[in-house]
Amino acid sequence: MSKELKKKRFQLVKGMRDILPDEQIFWFHIENVVKQVADKYGYHRISTALLESTELFKRSVGTTSDIVEKEMYSFEDKGGENVSLRPEFTAGIARAYIEHGMFNLPQPIKLYSFGPCFRYDKPQAGRLRQFHQFNFEVIGEADAICDAQIILLTYKIYQALNVPVVVQINSIGCPECRPEYETVLKDYLKKFRSKLSELSQKRLNKNSLRILDSKEEVDQAIIKDAPQQVDYLCERCKDHFIQVLEYLDELEIPYALNFKVVRGLDYYTRTTFEIWPEESDQGRMIELGGGGRYDGLMEQLGGRPTPAIGFAAGVERLINIMKEKNIKVAEPAKPDVYLAQLGAESRKRALSLFEEMYDVGIKVTEGLARSGLKAQLELANKLGVKYTLILGQKELIDGTIMIRDMEGGIQEVVDAKKVINEVQKRLEKAKVSINKNGNGPPSS
Ligand code: HAM
Repeated sequence: MSKELKKKRFQLVKGMRDILPDEQIFWFHIENVVKQVADKYGYHRISTALLESTELFKRSVGTTSDIVEKEMYSFEDKGGENVSLRPEFTAGIARAYIEHGMFNLPQPIKLYSFGPCFRYDKPQAGRLRQFHQFNFEVIGEADAICDAQIILLTYKIYQALNVPVVVQINSIGCPECRPEYETVLKDYLKKFRSKLSELSQKRLNKNSLRILDSKEEVDQAIIKDAPQQVDYLCERCKDHFIQVLEYLDELEIPYALNFKVVRGLDYYTRTTFEIWPEESDQGRMIELGGGGRYDGLMEQLGGRPTPAIGFAAGVERLINIMKEKNIKVAEPAKPDVYLAQLGAESRKRALSLFEEMYDVGIKVTEGLARSGLKAQLELANKLGVKYTLILGQKELIDGTIMIRDMEGGIQEVVDAKKVINEVQKRLEKAKVSINKNGNGPPSS
């Protein structure tokens, strides 16, 4: 290998991100909230494969969607099969539902997932090539109450995370009523063909509904007066939509009717919705999540006719907004005790003393690989521990250990056999005095 190659410093692949330890508190917190809400509403976790047949996404997300047209990480594997990294969860979950015969179980099946997805998108604010979603699906029930409850659940997650949001909601009808609307919409848009953005002009014949989703200013001016799907819904779709809205009113969930919420994936029917940050201005808005009904998908994938609804949210976008808004999440518990040692024999003893302390519930940290007391005490100080235990050669011979109170700097030598007990007593006392002064949480 050449010298230059040996020296090469590798960097992240474009659009990928490392999640460093400092940020992990957000991830634990969000995963916890998602799990709690999932438990509350009776969802079970499902982890589907990262790699699926490319055909699955073509048939579900749709060949005219941006995702399938240009954003999939697809390749031929060594066996010649065309496979893709999942760009989203719904298609894989629908595949798993059919493949594992979940239709034989009592319906609806409620599933949730949390994990990475991949889209070869142009990296920019809020857009990564590897990002994470949490995803909820209710499969096997057509009732409007499910639409309302999944929107409620979604809303509860953002509420629990202190992120104010508004639900943007629409109905895009069903295969019965959508074609008429599409014709009316196309006729309207054709009148402005030359004024539409280049992309919207291309979409006019392939997927005119998606033009409503355009963020281009030139398109916005035309879209604002476009005919709306809600005026062309068949009776059943209209009733369904009205019911969903009535449930949302009952639940007092803030929502806005928004005929532009048509979503970028082809499987949707009837209710579609997105979660927007409360104060977002429509032009620059980056949605936090989105979902909707997909009553035709199972059949499209070779399953029985099975109504379903789901939702997914981007975790990185959520964390960005939490950071922007300075929303605090609980820091992990700090250690109370630092275990310092000096000399080879003390180090050996400290190795097992650490285990003994941890096992009785003391929040302990150590510097077993360090030498030199000064450096260890400096680290203990930095960590903000209450006590440092010092185990040196002399203490080892005497069968003692020194306890240093880090606040006052007072050091006391105690019998090594009683040190755990001594530490526990002191920590208990410190807790009581904090509570008495009203500076800390009540002890439970
Ligand atoms: P989606 O709107 O394509 O829906 O994605 C959901 C969320 O994933 C977005 O709102 C966004 O927060 C996040 N997201 C998407 N692409 C990126 C990206 N390139 N970088 C960062 N975050 C991104 C779906 O995926 C549907 N499967 C949702 C669904 C579930 N519908 C029914 N069930």
